[in-house]
Amino acid sequence: MSEQNDLMDKIVSLAKRRGFVFPGSEIYGGLANSWDYGPLGHLLKQNIKKAWWKFFVQERGDMVPLDTAIIMNPKVWEASGHLKNFTDPLVECKSCHHRFREDHLLEARGAEPGYDKELPISVTEIPCPNCGGKLTPAKNFNLLMKTYLGPTEDSAAVAYLRGECAAGMFVNFKNILNVTRRRLPFGIAQIGKNFRNEITPGNFIFRTREFEIGEFEYFISPKDWETVFEMWLGEIKRWWKDIMQINMDNLVWHEIPDKDRAFYSKRTVDIEYKYPFGVKELHGIAYRTDFDLSRHETVSGQDLHYTDPETNEKFVPHVIEPTFGIDRMLLVCLLEAYHEEAAPTSEAGETETRVVMKFPKHLAPVQVAVLPLSKKEELSSVAKELAANLRKDFSVEYDETQSIGKRYRRQDEIGTPYCVTLDFDSLEDKKVTVRDRDSMQQDRVPMNELRDYLKEKFA
Ligand code: GAP
Repeated sequence: MSEQNDLMDKIVSLAKRRGFVFPGSEIYGGLANSWDYGPLGHLLKQNIKKAWWKFFVQERGDMVPLDTAIIMNPKVWEASGHLKNFTDPLVECKSCHHRFREDHLLEARGAEPGYDKELPISVTEIPCPNCGGKLTPAKNFNLLMKTYLGPTEDSAAVAYLRGECAAGMFVNFKNILNVTRRRLPFGIAQIGKNFRNEITPGNFIFRTREFEIGEFEYFISPKDWETVFEMWLGEIKRWWKDIMQINMDNLVWHEIPDKDRAFYSKRTVDIEYKYPFGVKELHGIAYRTDFDLSRHETVSGQDLHYTDPETNEKFVPHVIEPTFGIDRMLLVCLLEAYHEEAAPTSEAGETETRVVMKFPKHLAPVQVAVLPLSKKEELSSVAKELAANLRKDFSVEYDETQSIGKRYRRQDEIGTPYCVTLDFDSLEDKKVTVRDRDSMQQDRVPMNELRDYLKEKFA
Protein backbone atom coordinates (compact mmCIF):
# COMPACT_ATOMS: atom_id res chain seq x y z
CA MET A 1 0.00 0.00 0.00
CA SER A 2 1.46 3.42 -0.91
CA GLU A 3 2.14 5.90 1.86
CA GLN A 4 -0.50 8.20 0.40
CA ASN A 5 -3.32 5.61 0.30
CA ASP A 6 -2.18 4.61 3.74
CA LEU A 7 -2.86 8.18 4.91
CA MET A 8 -6.40 8.05 3.47
CA ASP A 9 -7.04 4.74 5.26
CA LYS A 10 -5.73 6.20 8.52
CA ILE A 11 -8.01 9.23 8.18
CA VAL A 12 -11.10 7.12 7.44
CA SER A 13 -10.32 4.84 10.37
CA LEU A 14 -9.61 7.69 12.81
CA ALA A 15 -12.76 9.50 11.61
CA LYS A 16 -14.88 6.48 12.52
CA ARG A 17 -13.01 5.53 15.73
CA ARG A 18 -13.21 9.00 17.21
CA GLY A 19 -16.62 10.04 15.90
CA PHE A 20 -15.83 12.46 13.10
CA VAL A 21 -17.50 10.57 10.24
CA PHE A 22 -19.45 7.29 10.36
CA PRO A 23 -20.46 5.13 7.38
CA GLY A 24 -24.14 5.98 6.69
CA SER A 25 -26.95 3.60 7.78
CA GLU A 26 -24.31 1.26 9.18
CA ILE A 27 -26.59 -1.04 11.22
CA TYR A 28 -28.41 -1.91 7.97
CA GLY A 29 -25.19 -2.82 6.19
CA GLY A 30 -24.59 0.78 5.12
CA LEU A 31 -25.51 2.69 1.97
CA ALA A 32 -22.63 2.98 -0.48
CA ASN A 33 -20.91 6.36 -0.32
CA SER A 34 -23.22 7.85 2.27
CA TRP A 35 -21.67 9.22 5.43
CA ASP A 36 -22.92 10.63 8.73
CA TYR A 37 -21.03 13.28 10.67
CA GLY A 38 -20.52 12.14 14.26
CA PRO A 39 -20.29 14.42 17.32
CA LEU A 40 -16.78 15.70 16.52
CA GLY A 41 -17.38 15.84 12.76
CA HIS A 42 -20.51 17.89 13.35
CA LEU A 43 -18.57 20.35 15.54
CA LEU A 44 -15.69 20.55 13.05
CA LYS A 45 -18.07 21.18 10.16
CA GLN A 46 -19.94 23.83 12.17
CA ASN A 47 -16.63 25.54 12.95
CA ILE A 48 -15.56 25.52 9.28
CA LYS A 49 -18.93 26.93 8.21
CA LYS A 50 -18.84 29.59 10.95
CA ALA A 51 -15.30 30.62 9.96
CA TRP A 52 -16.28 30.72 6.27
CA TRP A 53 -19.34 32.83 7.03
CA LYS A 54 -17.38 35.22 9.26
CA PHE A 55 -14.60 35.66 6.70
CA PHE A 56 -16.62 35.89 3.48
CA VAL A 57 -19.88 37.41 4.74
CA GLN A 58 -20.00 38.84 8.27
CA GLU A 59 -16.75 40.81 8.23
CA ARG A 60 -17.52 42.45 4.87
CA GLY A 61 -20.02 45.22 4.29
CA ASP A 62 -21.00 44.06 0.82
CA MET A 63 -22.65 40.68 1.40
CA VAL A 64 -26.28 39.72 1.94
CA PRO A 65 -27.22 36.36 3.53
CA LEU A 66 -29.89 34.07 2.12
CA ASP A 67 -31.37 30.63 2.79
CA THR A 68 -33.46 29.31 -0.10
CA ALA A 69 -35.56 26.20 -0.70
CA ILE A 70 -34.05 22.88 -1.72
CA ILE A 71 -37.02 22.16 -4.00
CA MET A 72 -37.79 24.95 -6.44
CA ASN A 73 -40.05 25.41 -9.46
CA PRO A 74 -38.62 23.10 -12.18
CA LYS A 75 -38.50 26.12 -14.51
CA VAL A 76 -35.55 27.35 -12.41
CA TRP A 77 -33.53 24.35 -13.65
CA GLU A 78 -34.72 24.85 -17.19
CA ALA A 79 -33.47 28.46 -17.09
CA SER A 80 -30.16 27.61 -15.41
CA GLY A 81 -29.42 24.96 -18.03
CA HIS A 82 -29.27 22.13 -15.48
CA LEU A 83 -32.10 20.15 -17.10
CA LYS A 84 -30.22 20.05 -20.40
CA ASN A 85 -26.54 20.31 -19.55
CA PHE A 86 -25.96 19.13 -15.97
CA THR A 87 -24.74 15.77 -17.20
CA ASP A 88 -21.82 13.39 -16.94
CA PRO A 89 -20.84 10.90 -19.66
CA LEU A 90 -22.03 7.47 -18.53
CA VAL A 91 -20.75 4.12 -19.84
CA GLU A 92 -22.01 0.72 -18.76
CA CYS A 93 -20.39 -2.70 -18.88
CA LYS A 94 -22.39 -5.04 -21.15
CA SER A 95 -21.53 -8.03 -18.92
CA CYS A 96 -21.56 -6.97 -15.25
CA HIS A 97 -23.60 -3.75 -15.76
CA HIS A 98 -21.25 -1.69 -13.58
CA ARG A 99 -21.42 1.97 -14.54
CA PHE A 100 -18.50 4.38 -14.93
CA ARG A 101 -17.80 7.94 -15.99
CA GLU A 102 -16.18 8.01 -19.41
CA ASP A 103 -14.00 11.01 -18.49
CA HIS A 104 -12.66 9.21 -15.39
CA LEU A 105 -11.72 6.11 -17.44
CA LEU A 106 -10.04 8.23 -20.10
CA GLU A 107 -8.19 10.33 -17.54
CA ALA A 108 -6.88 7.11 -15.97
CA ARG A 109 -5.44 6.35 -19.46
CA GLY A 110 -3.53 9.61 -19.45
CA ALA A 111 -6.04 11.95 -21.11
CA GLU A 112 -5.89 15.49 -19.74
CA PRO A 113 -8.98 16.60 -17.78
CA GLY A 114 -11.28 18.38 -20.25
CA TYR A 115 -9.75 16.25 -23.04
CA ASP A 116 -10.24 17.01 -26.73
CA LYS A 117 -12.44 14.52 -28.44
CA GLU A 118 -9.50 13.25 -30.61
CA LEU A 119 -8.22 10.55 -28.28
CA PRO A 120 -5.76 7.75 -28.95
CA ILE A 121 -8.27 5.33 -27.44
CA SER A 122 -12.04 5.22 -27.48
CA VAL A 123 -13.84 4.28 -24.29
CA THR A 124 -15.32 1.18 -25.97
CA GLU A 125 -11.78 -0.18 -26.40
CA ILE A 126 -11.12 0.02 -22.63
CA PRO A 127 -11.98 -3.20 -20.75
CA CYS A 128 -14.46 -2.88 -17.87
CA PRO A 129 -12.38 -2.13 -14.73
CA ASN A 130 -14.66 -4.48 -12.77
CA CYS A 131 -14.84 -7.64 -14.95
CA GLY A 132 -12.87 -6.95 -18.15
CA GLY A 133 -16.09 -6.98 -20.24
CA LYS A 134 -17.03 -4.64 -23.09
CA LEU A 135 -18.23 -1.09 -22.34
CA THR A 136 -21.04 0.73 -24.15
CA PRO A 137 -20.42 4.09 -25.85
CA ALA A 138 -21.02 7.06 -23.51
CA LYS A 139 -24.41 8.66 -23.12
CA ASN A 140 -25.20 11.80 -21.15
CA PHE A 141 -26.65 11.15 -17.71
CA ASN A 142 -28.41 14.01 -15.87
CA LEU A 143 -27.23 14.49 -12.28
CA LEU A 144 -30.30 16.29 -10.90
CA MET A 145 -32.13 14.15 -8.32
CA LYS A 146 -35.73 13.77 -9.38
CA THR A 147 -38.68 13.57 -7.03
CA TYR A 148 -42.47 13.99 -7.19
CA LEU A 149 -44.47 16.57 -5.29
CA GLY A 150 -47.65 15.18 -3.75
CA PRO A 151 -49.27 11.78 -4.14
CA THR A 152 -49.18 11.34 -7.93
CA GLU A 153 -46.05 10.32 -9.75
CA ASP A 154 -46.90 11.89 -13.10
CA SER A 155 -44.90 14.36 -15.17
CA ALA A 156 -46.82 17.37 -13.82
CA ALA A 157 -45.59 16.49 -10.31
CA VAL A 158 -41.90 16.20 -11.22
CA ALA A 159 -39.51 18.35 -9.17
CA TYR A 160 -35.79 18.25 -8.44
CA LEU A 161 -33.64 18.53 -5.33
CA ARG A 162 -31.30 21.44 -5.94
CA GLY A 163 -27.88 20.60 -7.38
CA GLU A 164 -26.32 23.91 -6.28
CA CYS A 165 -27.21 26.86 -4.03
CA ALA A 166 -26.54 29.42 -6.75
CA ALA A 167 -29.92 29.18 -8.51
CA GLY A 168 -31.77 30.19 -5.32
CA MET A 169 -29.68 33.36 -5.18
CA PHE A 170 -30.31 34.32 -8.81
CA VAL A 171 -34.08 33.84 -8.55
CA ASN A 172 -34.12 36.11 -5.47
CA PHE A 173 -31.98 38.84 -7.01
CA LYS A 174 -34.96 41.14 -7.53
CA ASN A 175 -36.31 40.55 -4.00
CA ILE A 176 -32.90 41.32 -2.50
CA LEU A 177 -32.53 44.47 -4.56
CA ASN A 178 -36.00 45.64 -3.47
CA VAL A 179 -35.56 45.01 0.25
CA THR A 180 -31.92 46.01 0.71
CA ARG A 181 -31.64 48.81 -1.92
CA ARG A 182 -28.06 47.65 -2.49
CA ARG A 183 -25.82 49.21 -5.08
CA LEU A 184 -23.32 47.24 -7.15
CA PRO A 185 -21.01 45.66 -6.33
CA PHE A 186 -22.59 43.39 -3.74
CA GLY A 187 -22.88 39.67 -3.09
CA ILE A 188 -25.53 37.19 -1.99
CA ALA A 189 -24.22 34.25 0.03
CA GLN A 190 -25.61 31.00 1.31
CA ILE A 191 -24.54 27.64 2.68
CA GLY A 192 -26.73 24.61 2.18
CA LYS A 193 -27.25 20.98 1.24
CA ASN A 194 -27.17 19.94 -2.39
CA PHE A 195 -27.90 16.70 -4.19
CA ARG A 196 -26.36 15.18 -7.30
CA ASN A 197 -26.99 11.71 -8.65
CA GLU A 198 -23.25 11.07 -9.14
CA ILE A 199 -22.39 8.06 -11.32
CA THR A 200 -19.25 7.19 -9.38
CA PRO A 201 -19.16 8.72 -5.92
CA GLY A 202 -16.15 7.75 -3.82
CA ASN A 203 -12.96 8.64 -2.00
CA PHE A 204 -14.68 8.97 1.37
CA ILE A 205 -16.48 12.36 1.61
CA PHE A 206 -14.78 13.74 -1.55
CA ARG A 207 -17.59 12.81 -3.95
CA THR A 208 -21.00 11.97 -2.51
CA ARG A 209 -24.58 12.32 -3.67
CA GLU A 210 -25.56 14.63 -0.81
CA PHE A 211 -23.18 17.39 0.28
CA GLU A 212 -22.97 21.00 1.38
CA ILE A 213 -21.81 23.99 -0.63
CA GLY A 214 -20.97 27.50 0.59
CA GLU A 215 -21.08 29.91 -2.33
CA PHE A 216 -21.80 33.46 -3.27
CA GLU A 217 -22.84 35.42 -6.31
CA TYR A 218 -20.99 38.73 -6.45
CA PHE A 219 -22.87 41.10 -8.74
CA ILE A 220 -20.83 43.66 -10.65
CA SER A 221 -20.78 46.00 -13.59
CA PRO A 222 -19.06 44.19 -16.52
CA LYS A 223 -16.33 46.83 -16.75
CA ASP A 224 -15.02 45.80 -13.31
CA TRP A 225 -14.79 42.03 -13.75
CA GLU A 226 -11.01 41.66 -14.05
CA THR A 227 -10.24 43.69 -10.91
CA VAL A 228 -12.99 42.01 -8.89
CA PHE A 229 -11.88 38.54 -10.01
CA GLU A 230 -8.33 39.28 -8.80
CA MET A 231 -9.69 40.68 -5.52
CA TRP A 232 -11.59 37.41 -4.86
CA LEU A 233 -8.60 35.26 -5.82
CA GLY A 234 -6.61 37.21 -3.21
CA GLU A 235 -9.32 36.68 -0.59
CA ILE A 236 -9.44 32.95 -1.37
CA LYS A 237 -5.66 32.74 -0.86
CA ARG A 238 -6.04 34.54 2.45
CA TRP A 239 -8.79 32.08 3.45
CA TRP A 240 -6.56 29.05 2.86
CA LYS A 241 -3.41 30.58 4.36
CA ASP A 242 -4.70 32.50 7.38
CA ILE A 243 -8.00 30.89 8.33
CA MET A 244 -7.70 27.25 7.25
CA GLN A 245 -3.90 27.49 7.80
CA ILE A 246 -3.04 24.77 5.30
CA ASN A 247 0.29 24.11 3.58
CA MET A 248 -0.18 26.31 0.48
CA ASP A 249 2.12 23.99 -1.52
CA ASN A 250 -0.72 21.46 -1.46
CA LEU A 251 -2.94 23.76 -3.56
CA VAL A 252 -2.86 23.90 -7.37
CA TRP A 253 -4.33 26.99 -9.07
CA HIS A 254 -5.72 25.65 -12.32
CA GLU A 255 -6.64 28.31 -14.91
CA ILE A 256 -9.25 26.60 -17.06
CA PRO A 257 -8.27 27.12 -20.72
CA ASP A 258 -10.72 28.65 -23.22
CA LYS A 259 -11.63 25.34 -24.84
CA ASP A 260 -12.67 23.76 -21.53
CA ARG A 261 -14.64 26.67 -20.04
CA ALA A 262 -18.42 26.94 -20.19
CA PHE A 263 -19.24 29.14 -23.23
CA TYR A 264 -20.54 31.98 -21.02
CA SER A 265 -17.53 32.12 -18.68
CA LYS A 266 -14.66 34.47 -19.48
CA ARG A 267 -12.42 33.15 -16.70
CA THR A 268 -12.59 30.15 -14.38
CA VAL A 269 -9.99 28.99 -11.88
CA ASP A 270 -10.30 25.58 -10.23
CA ILE A 271 -8.55 25.46 -6.89
CA GLU A 272 -7.23 21.91 -6.71
CA TYR A 273 -5.68 19.99 -3.83
CA LYS A 274 -3.02 17.28 -3.74
CA TYR A 275 -5.22 14.58 -2.15
CA PRO A 276 -3.70 11.16 -1.38
CA PHE A 277 -5.73 9.86 -4.37
CA GLY A 278 -4.46 12.51 -6.82
CA VAL A 279 -4.70 16.21 -7.65
CA LYS A 280 -8.40 16.98 -7.86
CA GLU A 281 -10.82 19.88 -7.50
CA LEU A 282 -11.31 21.39 -4.08
CA HIS A 283 -13.42 24.37 -5.14
CA GLY A 284 -13.61 27.06 -7.80
CA ILE A 285 -14.22 30.62 -8.90
CA ALA A 286 -15.86 31.64 -12.18
CA TYR A 287 -16.75 34.86 -13.97
CA ARG A 288 -20.15 33.89 -15.40
CA THR A 289 -20.89 37.16 -17.26
CA ASP A 290 -24.65 37.98 -17.24
CA PHE A 291 -25.60 34.45 -18.31
CA ASP A 292 -27.60 33.47 -15.22
CA LEU A 293 -29.71 36.60 -14.68
CA SER A 294 -30.33 36.91 -18.43
CA ARG A 295 -31.54 33.32 -18.64
CA HIS A 296 -33.87 33.79 -15.64
CA GLU A 297 -35.12 37.01 -17.20
CA THR A 298 -35.92 35.23 -20.46
CA VAL A 299 -37.60 32.17 -18.93
CA SER A 300 -39.49 33.99 -16.11
CA GLY A 301 -40.43 37.04 -18.19
CA GLN A 302 -39.44 39.30 -15.23
CA ASP A 303 -37.23 42.36 -15.54
CA LEU A 304 -33.95 41.60 -13.72
CA HIS A 305 -32.11 44.72 -14.88
CA TYR A 306 -30.32 47.05 -12.49
CA THR A 307 -30.27 50.82 -12.87
CA ASP A 308 -27.09 52.60 -11.83
CA PRO A 309 -28.28 55.46 -9.58
CA GLU A 310 -25.46 57.78 -10.71
CA THR A 311 -25.40 57.23 -14.49
CA ASN A 312 -28.98 55.94 -14.94
CA GLU A 313 -27.49 53.19 -17.06
CA LYS A 314 -29.74 50.10 -17.10
CA PHE A 315 -28.12 46.68 -17.50
CA VAL A 316 -28.21 43.06 -16.37
CA PRO A 317 -25.52 42.70 -13.69
CA HIS A 318 -22.63 40.34 -14.33
CA VAL A 319 -21.52 37.89 -11.68
CA ILE A 320 -18.40 36.40 -10.15
CA GLU A 321 -19.09 33.16 -8.33
CA PRO A 322 -16.68 31.67 -5.78
CA THR A 323 -17.95 28.24 -4.71
CA PHE A 324 -16.71 25.97 -1.91
CA GLY A 325 -17.58 22.35 -1.14
CA ILE A 326 -17.89 22.25 2.66
CA ASP A 327 -17.28 18.48 2.86
CA ARG A 328 -14.16 18.75 0.69
CA MET A 329 -12.88 21.54 2.96
CA LEU A 330 -13.47 19.27 5.95
CA LEU A 331 -11.58 16.44 4.22
CA VAL A 332 -8.66 18.79 3.56
CA CYS A 333 -8.81 19.93 7.18
CA LEU A 334 -8.49 16.30 8.35
CA LEU A 335 -5.65 15.55 5.91
CA GLU A 336 -3.69 18.66 6.86
CA ALA A 337 -4.17 18.10 10.59
CA TYR A 338 -2.98 14.48 10.69
CA HIS A 339 0.47 14.07 12.25
CA GLU A 340 2.35 11.13 13.70
CA GLU A 341 5.29 12.02 15.93
CA ALA A 342 7.50 10.57 18.63
CA ALA A 343 6.42 11.50 22.16
CA PRO A 344 8.13 10.67 25.48
CA THR A 345 6.55 7.96 27.65
CA SER A 346 6.61 7.79 31.46
CA GLU A 347 9.80 5.64 31.13
CA ALA A 348 12.84 7.93 31.04
CA GLY A 349 14.36 8.17 27.55
CA GLU A 350 11.58 6.07 25.92
CA THR A 351 9.29 7.39 23.20
CA GLU A 352 6.10 6.19 21.53
CA THR A 353 4.26 7.35 18.42
CA ARG A 354 1.50 9.81 19.11
CA VAL A 355 -1.17 10.64 16.53
CA VAL A 356 -2.09 14.29 16.82
CA MET A 357 -4.65 16.23 14.82
CA LYS A 358 -3.14 19.70 14.60
CA PHE A 359 -6.32 21.56 13.64
CA PRO A 360 -6.07 25.34 13.63
CA LYS A 361 -7.09 26.10 17.20
CA HIS A 362 -10.21 28.05 16.23
CA LEU A 363 -11.50 25.05 14.23
CA ALA A 364 -10.82 22.31 16.81
CA PRO A 365 -14.07 20.51 17.73
CA VAL A 366 -13.08 20.32 21.40
CA GLN A 367 -11.10 23.33 22.60
CA VAL A 368 -10.37 22.38 26.19
CA ALA A 369 -10.31 19.03 28.02
CA VAL A 370 -10.63 19.02 31.80
CA LEU A 371 -8.83 15.99 33.27
CA PRO A 372 -8.69 15.47 37.06
CA LEU A 373 -5.87 13.12 38.09
CA SER A 374 -8.18 11.23 40.44
CA LYS A 375 -11.88 10.33 40.43
CA LYS A 376 -12.07 11.09 44.18
CA GLU A 377 -15.02 13.31 44.98
CA GLU A 378 -12.93 16.08 46.59
CA LEU A 379 -11.02 16.53 43.28
CA SER A 380 -13.71 15.64 40.75
CA SER A 381 -16.24 18.08 42.24
CA VAL A 382 -13.78 20.97 41.77
CA ALA A 383 -12.89 19.75 38.25
CA LYS A 384 -16.56 19.45 37.25
CA GLU A 385 -17.28 22.95 38.46
CA LEU A 386 -14.27 24.27 36.53
CA ALA A 387 -15.49 22.48 33.36
CA ALA A 388 -18.99 23.89 33.81
CA ASN A 389 -17.58 27.43 34.04
CA LEU A 390 -15.33 26.97 31.02
CA ARG A 391 -18.28 25.69 28.94
CA LYS A 392 -19.68 29.24 28.94
CA ASP A 393 -16.81 30.28 26.65
CA PHE A 394 -15.31 27.13 25.15
CA SER A 395 -16.21 23.72 23.77
CA VAL A 396 -15.17 21.51 26.70
CA GLU A 397 -14.81 17.77 27.28
CA TYR A 398 -14.59 16.34 30.81
CA ASP A 399 -12.81 12.99 31.26
CA GLU A 400 -11.77 11.28 34.48
CA THR A 401 -11.27 7.70 33.19
CA GLN A 402 -7.98 5.87 32.43
CA SER A 403 -4.40 6.96 33.02
CA ILE A 404 -3.48 10.57 32.29
CA GLY A 405 -1.12 9.39 29.50
CA LYS A 406 -3.99 7.61 27.71
CA ARG A 407 -6.26 10.58 28.18
CA TYR A 408 -3.62 12.93 26.66
CA ARG A 409 -3.26 10.56 23.65
CA ARG A 410 -7.03 10.55 23.16
CA GLN A 411 -7.23 14.34 23.25
CA ASP A 412 -4.26 14.54 20.84
CA GLU A 413 -6.10 12.25 18.43
CA ILE A 414 -9.17 14.46 18.39
CA GLY A 415 -7.05 17.62 18.18
CA THR A 416 -7.89 19.30 21.50
CA PRO A 417 -5.53 22.30 21.76
CA TYR A 418 -5.45 22.49 25.60
CA CYS A 419 -5.73 19.88 28.35
CA VAL A 420 -6.28 21.16 31.88
CA THR A 421 -5.29 18.75 34.65
CA LEU A 422 -6.12 19.07 38.33
CA ASP A 423 -4.12 17.24 41.01
CA PHE A 424 -4.36 17.24 44.81
CA ASP A 425 -2.00 20.26 44.92
CA SER A 426 -4.69 22.14 42.98
CA LEU A 427 -6.90 21.94 46.06
CA GLU A 428 -4.19 23.72 48.05
CA ASP A 429 -2.60 26.20 45.63
CA LYS A 430 -5.75 26.71 43.47
CA LYS A 431 -3.67 26.17 40.34
CA VAL A 432 -4.09 23.79 37.36
CA THR A 433 -1.68 22.47 34.75
CA VAL A 434 -2.38 23.46 31.15
CA ARG A 435 -0.78 21.27 28.47
CA ASP A 436 -0.34 22.60 24.92
CA ARG A 437 -1.30 20.03 22.24
CA ASP A 438 1.49 20.88 19.79
CA SER A 439 4.49 21.66 22.00
CA MET A 440 3.32 19.40 24.88
CA GLN A 441 4.67 22.13 27.19
CA GLN A 442 2.91 22.59 30.49
CA ASP A 443 2.06 25.81 32.35
CA ARG A 444 0.84 26.09 35.92
CA VAL A 445 -2.04 28.60 35.89
CA PRO A 446 -4.16 29.97 38.79
CA MET A 447 -7.73 28.68 38.40
CA ASN A 448 -9.20 32.17 38.64
CA GLU A 449 -7.03 33.29 35.71
CA LEU A 450 -7.66 30.23 33.53
CA ARG A 451 -10.50 31.69 31.48
CA ASP A 452 -8.46 34.76 30.47
CA TYR A 453 -5.35 32.62 29.89
CA LEU A 454 -7.30 30.42 27.45
CA LYS A 455 -9.08 33.37 25.83
CA GLU A 456 -5.70 34.84 25.00
CA LYS A 457 -4.49 31.54 23.57
CA PHE A 458 -7.51 31.33 21.24
CA ALA A 459 -7.48 35.01 20.31
N1 GAP B 1 -22.65 26.87 -8.47
C1 GAP B 1 -21.42 26.33 -8.90
C2 GAP B 1 -21.25 24.94 -8.56
O1 GAP B 1 -22.15 24.29 -8.04
P1 GAP B 1 -19.54 22.97 -8.73
O2 GAP B 1 -18.08 23.01 -9.05
O3 GAP B 1 -20.40 22.07 -9.57
O4 GAP B 1 -20.01 24.47 -8.83
C3 GAP B 1 -19.27 23.43 -6.18
O5 GAP B 1 -19.75 22.59 -7.20
C4 GAP B 1 -18.36 22.69 -5.24
O6 GAP B 1 -19.09 21.64 -4.61
C5 GAP B 1 -17.18 21.96 -5.91
O7 GAP B 1 -16.10 22.85 -6.13
C6 GAP B 1 -16.85 20.92 -4.86
O8 GAP B 1 -16.09 21.51 -3.82
C7 GAP B 1 -18.21 20.57 -4.30
N2 GAP B 1 -18.77 19.33 -4.90
C8 GAP B 1 -19.22 19.17 -6.15
N3 GAP B 1 -19.71 17.93 -6.34
C9 GAP B 1 -19.53 17.28 -5.16
C10 GAP B 1 -19.84 15.96 -4.70
N4 GAP B 1 -20.44 15.07 -5.49
N5 GAP B 1 -19.52 15.63 -3.44
C11 GAP B 1 -18.93 16.53 -2.60
N6 GAP B 1 -18.64 17.79 -2.98
C12 GAP B 1 -18.93 18.17 -4.24
